[in-house]
Amino acid sequence: MYDNKFHSRRRVSRPRRTVARYFQSISKQWTIRNLTIAIAISTLVVCSVVVPLLNVIFAPSWLSWLESRAKYPPPPRCQALALAPQQQSSPTDHITNTSVPLYHAFPPTTLDDSPLSAYRRPDTVDTFANYTYRTHPSCSLSSLDLHRPFSPLCPDTASFLNAFSGGGRIGFDAPFMPRECDMRWYTTLETCEIFSRFEKVIFVGDSMMRHVVGALNVLLREDLGYGAVTGWNFDDEETEKCFCMHQMDVKACSVQGVYRTSDVLKHDPDSFKCPTSTRKAKGEDGQTELVTTSPVNLIIELMLKFPHDPTEVKRFKELLPKTRPTRPIAFVLGHGLWNDLDLQATVNWLNGVLNAIYEEAPYLNLDTLPREAQPQPQPQPPASSAKDTNLSPPAPPRRNDPKQNTSSMPLAHILFITPNAAGPLKPDAWIQSQGDKALQLFEKSVHNLIHRRGEMFYGRGIEHMGTWNMSIQMEKWDGVHLDLRGNLIKAMGVVNWLGGVEVEMW
Ligand SMILES: *[C@@H]1O[C@H](CO)[C@@H](O)[C@H](O)[C@H]1NC(C)=O
Ligand SMILES: *[C@@H]1O[C@H](CO)[C@@H](O)[C@H](O)[C@H]1NC(C)=O
Ligand SMILES: *[C@@H]1O[C@H](CO)[C@@H](O)[C@H](O)[C@H]1NC(C)=O
Ligand SMILES: *[C@@H]1O[C@H](CO)[C@@H](O)[C@H](O)[C@H]1NC(C)=O
Repeated sequence: MYDNKFHSRRRVSRPRRTVARYFQSISKQWTIRNLTIAIAISTLVVCSVVVPLLNVIFAPSWLSWLESRAKYPPPPRCQALALAPQQQSSPTDHITNTSVPLYHAFPPTTLDDSPLSAYRRPDTVDTFANYTYRTHPSCSLSSLDLHRPFSPLCPDTASFLNAFSGGGRIGFDAPFMPRECDMRWYTTLETCEIFSRFEKVIFVGDSMMRHVVGALNVLLREDLGYGAVTGWNFDDEETEKCFCMHQMDVKACSVQGVYRTSDVLKHDPDSFKCPTSTRKAKGEDGQTELVTTSPVNLIIELMLKFPHDPTEVKRFKELLPKTRPTRPIAFVLGHGLWNDLDLQATVNWLNGVLNAIYEEAPYLNLDTLPREAQPQPQPQPPASSAKDTNLSPPAPPRRNDPKQNTSSMPLAHILFITPNAAGPLKPDAWIQSQGDKALQLFEKSVHNLIHRRGEMFYGRGIEHMGTWNMSIQMEKWDGVHLDLRGNLIKAMGVVNWLGGVEVEMW
């Protein structure tokens, strides 16, 4: 029975099951299709009816939210270190593009000053790329090792000097970063143009100033190997030792620095990369010779300490044109270490330099001191009273010509640079008088002296550039002096200052 029943059931159910499966699969497909259609229709309805409806209902509150976003825009994205290595055009392309105002230290606000803009393209490339000895294995220094561009650029000289004096670096010998706003890193062509705005750029100071002049000559001669030194008269030993980074950091080379552009033009004119012209002239021996001249004239006179050495003062005065030249003169002064950072001595030193300028070049207006700041004439303090706290030594003699309208006369352009930070090799005997504490206090005092209304130097066309913060995390070969890298940064700081001088007022 059982067997029969079983067999009969099997025989009957087989075709029925197949049919049921068929209908089942069809109904599954229908469900999926229906679902798809339902989702499509509901999406359509939501998009075309519900969202517009919601928009209409909530529009006012959304608008006010948008407005609030506009009132408090998100902070601008940081463009620091945004380099443009993939540039197609050469960094000097834009120099021929007259629609970009060139060489202006501080571009008008309408000009894009981001590192990716055409104006700042030179800042984003290695401007040393084609310098002599750049590919030498022991001289591979890129300008991007010294400074990398970021946005914004400083809008004027005052903010640039603040940014430079307060800037620093992230890590020892890392690229220098001005504080809050950036400086330009000019190409040689741009540097030449800025220098040629001036009849002369006269440096006055000690070895630190001489090294800055050396670094400027590296830029003007496009020579990392021997640009800062008088390579034309070197013997074999000097050629070997005074090379590249070591142009300043071996004592014997340090005094072989280039002192004046005329020496370069006389002994090695081809090394000078600014525009020059050559003409025939009668030489001292009566024979005609070729003389190379350039609109660029960079010169240093060493004036180490107060009291002044009369021969130094005499030589300095000889640098000043007797009559007003067609272009302005810029002065870059540095003093401090030779008088153990004695502020009074620095005041006296500065006054001595200003007096010399005043006597020799009265066309330079040093006489625009505001009334309340005019110092009372006093007898010259003797040298021994250098520790005196009185900061008002004799004023430069005042012009006695009442017909002169001083406010329409050009100002002298003077930059005072305070000494850089000390290094671990600073001899112990000098730590108290010239260590980092003394250096910082000195820098601050000089800054106040020049900036504070009522101080005797206020408003006389003197500006201050500090280098302590810039140099604290840098190599110092003897504890006092920076090597080529630090001096190149100081030099570029000076070019930025020169680039901002209002030569139109001359
Ligand atoms: C010149 O500069 C302008 C403004 O930045 C730019 O629009 C133009 O493309 C530049 N021309 C060339 C040839 O680079
Ligand atoms: C270096 O020279 C090459 C070839 O002339 C040029 O393409 C490049 O722009 C130059 N670089 C700089 C920084 O002047
Ligand atoms: C540089 O650093 C010193 C601290 O050593 C600080 O007092 C000074 O204000 C800084 N200079 C500037 C211009 O910020
Ligand atoms: C001096 O010159 C300026 C500018 O040329 C003029 O504004 C000013 O009135 C003049 N002052 C006197 C006292 O003549």
